Amino acid sequence: MKLLGSIILLLVLGSALAYKSYSGYQVLKTAPLTPAAMPYVNRLSRRFDFWGTPGVGRPATVMVSPEEVPIIIAAFNRMRISHEVMVADLGPEVERERAENEALRLALPRSPRVAAYDRFMEFEEINAHVLETVAANPDVASLVDLGLSTEGRELLGIKLSNGAAGQKSVWFDCAIHAREWIAPPVCLRIIDEVLADPALRDLADWYVLPVANPDGYSFSWSDDRFWRKTRRPNPGSNCIGTDPNRNFDFLWEGNNEFCSETYPGSSAFSEPECAAIGNFITANADSLILYVAVHSYGELILYPYGHTVEPAPNAADLAAAGTVSADAIAAVAGTRYSVENSAAGLYFTNGASDDFAYGSGAVLYSYTYELSGGGLIGFNPPPSFIQPVVDEVWPGLKALVEYTLAN
Ligand code: ARG
Ligand code: ZN
Repeated sequence: MKLLGSIILLLVLGSALAYKSYSGYQVLKTAPLTPAAMPYVNRLSRRFDFWGTPGVGRPATVMVSPEEVPIIIAAFNRMRISHEVMVADLGPEVERERAENEALRLALPRSPRVAAYDRFMEFEEINAHVLETVAANPDVASLVDLGLSTEGRELLGIKLSNGAAGQKSVWFDCAIHAREWIAPPVCLRIIDEVLADPALRDLADWYVLPVANPDGYSFSWSDDRFWRKTRRPNPGSNCIGTDPNRNFDFLWEGNNEFCSETYPGSSAFSEPECAAIGNFITANADSLILYVAVHSYGELILYPYGHTVEPAPNAADLAAAGTVSADAIAAVAGTRYSVENSAAGLYFTNGASDDFAYGSGAVLYSYTYELSGGGLIGFNPPPSFIQPVVDEVWPGLKALVEYTLAN
C-alpha cells in the first residue's frame, strides 16, 4: 500500500512537473492605446508577450513573468501608458483550465468522423479526424500532405472539390500560432460545411489546414499552454522556436532576438511548416483567389499589408469583402469584428503569411481573422465558447468566399 501510494505520488508529481508553471505570472491591461503610445508598444512587443493584437484605440494585454512585472510597469509608467492588473496570478487559472480540459477529454471521447466542438481536440485527434474524413468521402475529399514539421509531425490538410477542372480555389489555415486553440475548430467547421453542401464545392475548391504548427500546438498541450512559436531550436541560444507568422518569404527581416515571441527565424522559410505552406500557395497561385489565416484574439479581420500603412492596390476591395464578412458574423449574435489594414495603428510586421500570399501575387484577397477572446484571461476561452464562435464565424467565412469569387 505504501509503495502504491508513493508510485501514485510520483506519477502525479511527474505529470505536474512536465507542465510549465505560470505561478506568479501576471497579465496587465493598458487603457486604449493612443497613436503616440504605439511606437513604444511596438518596441516592447519585441521583448514582452503581448496578447491580442495591439492597435490604436484598443487596450493592449501583456503577460509577464514575476521578474518582468516591475520592468514592464516601470516602462508603462515612463511612457505614461495607464494600465491595470487583469490577472494577478496566472498559475491557478492555467491549472484549472488544464483540469477542465482533461476531465472533458475523458468524459467526451472522440467519436470517429465527428469533430468535437464541446471541447478542444489534441493534435493527434485532429489528424485522425482529417484522415477519417478523407477516407469516408473519397469522391469529394482528398488529403493534402504538406510534409513534416521539425519534430516529424504530419502537416495534413484536406481538399474538398467537386472534381471539375479549372475551378478557382480558397485556402484556410488555423493555429499557426500554437496557443490559439479556438482556431482549429473553425477549420474543422469549414470542412463539415463544405462536405455537407455541394453548392459550396461548385463555388470553389477548398483547401483547409486545421493545425499549421503541429509541434507548437502539441507543446501547448503537453508543456506550456501559452507557447506561440514553432519548436525548432535556435543554435547558440536556449530559447526555442520561431514565430511562424514572421517567417514567410515576403519582406522577411532578420534579427537575433531568439527569445522574443516574434523572432522571425534564421532565414525566410527556415521553418519547414512555413516553407510547406508557402510552396503550396505558390504552386497553386493560378487557381487560388483567397487566403485566410485564422488566429486569436481580437475580433478583427485584417488585410494586407502589415509592413506599411500605404494602401494595397485593391485595398478598397479587400475592405469591402471584409465588411461583407464582418456583417455576416454580426448578423448571428451581434459580435462586431472590425475590418482593418494590418499595419493600421502602426503595429508593423514583416514575413506574415497573409502578406506573403497577397504580396507574392498568389491571391487577390488575403486575410487574418482574429477570433474572439474569452475566459478570465482573454487568451483562452473556455470550451463552452467553441460552439458560439464557430457558429458565428462560419457564416462570415462563407460570405467572404461568395463575395471574393463573385468579384
Ligand atoms: N496577431 C497576428 C500576428 O501578430 C496578426 C497578423 C496580421 N497580419 C499581418 N500581416 N500583420 O501575427
Ligand atoms: Zn496569432
